[in-house]
Amino acid sequence: MAFASVKQILLDAQEKNYGVVAFDCFNYESIAWAVEAAELENVPVIIMQYPATKKIIPFTAFSAITKAVADRVKVPVGLHLDHSYDLDEIKEALEAGFPSVMFDGSKLSFEDNIKYCKQVAEMAKGYGASVEAELGKVGTAGNLEDFADSSKYTKPEEAKEFVERTGVDYLAVAIGSAHGFYVATPKLDLLRLRELDKAVNVPLVLHGGTGIPDDQLLEAGHLGINKLNVGTELDAFFFQYTAELTNNAKDKHYGSYTVAMQERIVDYYRKKLHVIGA
Ligand code: 13P
Repeated sequence: MAFASVKQILLDAQEKNYGVVAFDCFNYESIAWAVEAAELENVPVIIMQYPATKKIIPFTAFSAITKAVADRVKVPVGLHLDHSYDLDEIKEALEAGFPSVMFDGSKLSFEDNIKYCKQVAEMAKGYGASVEAELGKVGTAGNLEDFADSSKYTKPEEAKEFVERTGVDYLAVAIGSAHGFYVATPKLDLLRLRELDKAVNVPLVLHGGTGIPDDQLLEAGHLGINKLNVGTELDAFFFQYTAELTNNAKDKHYGSYTVAMQERIVDYYRKKLHVIGA
């Protein structure tokens, strides 16, 4: 039984100075194979659901599957709701058994972000759950200015005030990463990360884990990032391998193609789990 609190997983990582990879999963295979890879590598893993995917797999099913596969392994497996903008949706996930949720108020004003995060933190407390917030703007990797313009980055003094006033458990910061495939190689602002880590006592989270050079990630893990979110490349590998394996398949059986997929995706997970120092 290794279903574990995300907060505890991140506090352990913070104490020992490494990052845990959190994957945006979207079906049984993406969840089960991530957990299988984590067990093989003997590292923790966090399974996340992006709210839009509840059309494919409802929160209750996602949560039940994650708990069931976690039961089969010894390594800690966390479950987290990624990027929700909606308090009702967060409540739905908490009811469905998510022990960790993100309220993304990064597009709101500083004061409104605080106001809603406080409400989410209060609500989550009633379920014994923990909360991730975002301060600064982590945009789209297809727009250079979204990740290269430092005016969008998180300011250490604001981060300190934000965490103190909201009571959130971990904080996603903007230090030069963005979501999706980058149009140019990102360069993380590691000096700022060092200052953020000094200013704030909760674990820090880095979004946009697809395409950041490994040396930068490893350093970010040592300097205070304890959770690295990865989505785009996982989705892209599923797509690419599906195309390759189904095009070349001699027998047109979904089952045999899935077995071939498993080997490739588990391999991907096994390597990726270590990129931030776990
Ligand atoms: P990527 O899709 O760029 O890997 O980012 C994922 C993410 O940050 C989800 O919160």
